[in-house]
Amino acid sequence: MNLFAVVPAAGSGQRMGAGLPKQYLALQGRKVIDWSVRSLLRQPEIQRVVVVLASRDPHWQTTLVHDDPRVCTTVGGPERAISVLEGLKALRVHAKESDWVLVHDAARPCVREADIQRLVEQIGQGNGTVLGAPVIDTMKRTDATGHILGTVDRNLLWRAFTPQLFPLGLLYKALKDALSAGITVTDEAGAMEWAGYQSSMLEGASSNIKITRPEDLELAAFYLSHRL
Ligand code: C5P
Repeated sequence: MNLFAVVPAAGSGQRMGAGLPKQYLALQGRKVIDWSVRSLLRQPEIQRVVVVLASRDPHWQTTLVHDDPRVCTTVGGPERAISVLEGLKALRVHAKESDWVLVHDAARPCVREADIQRLVEQIGQGNGTVLGAPVIDTMKRTDATGHILGTVDRNLLWRAFTPQLFPLGLLYKALKDALSAGITVTDEAGAMEWAGYQSSMLEGASSNIKITRPEDLELAAFYLSHRL
């Protein structure tokens, strides 16, 4: 069984309000995407990393990882799930249905290599594994105006991160079918759930944040400089 990776990096990151897609913002001497892709490239088991870019992306060539021999690119779409599907399509040229794929957001630069390694050890186990962390706050359900309707039992609730690991053939079909059915897919496990495949959570460091708002960049810089 071979292992590949897909890195969706075709978003515009408008919530950052930075005038530059968030994956290209400077972070501790590199770009956000350099940290995210490098942590995958440090895993020798990963044969190839497909980075999914926006069309006519002028920033990719300025990254440290763009000319790595194990990295190639393809063009994404208007939603994250479509970008991931395009990445999987590009992989299918090199890979078999029975190979496995890690999908990792370009916007998660703080993932620990040890956590990726533990995830990689799950290859061949069931229908896939997702890195995440148990919810620690009290969870409330509200109506659309913010009025509290109730408290949700958090004992079995997790935050789902990336990387997420799945068999390539199953994930490709699940994502393709979910998108054709008009399902909103916010992560790969969601498409697999919709297709009826159960995957598992693997607890990882909660410092694996997704850069979304300006304050996240400062937090990521803190995590990376302290390697927490
Ligand atoms: O916008 P969000 O934070 O959910 O983006 C998560 C990841 O998906 C980012 O790395 C972003 O570049 C990527 N993405 C993408 N194509 C899109 C939207 C987001 O590859 N159309």
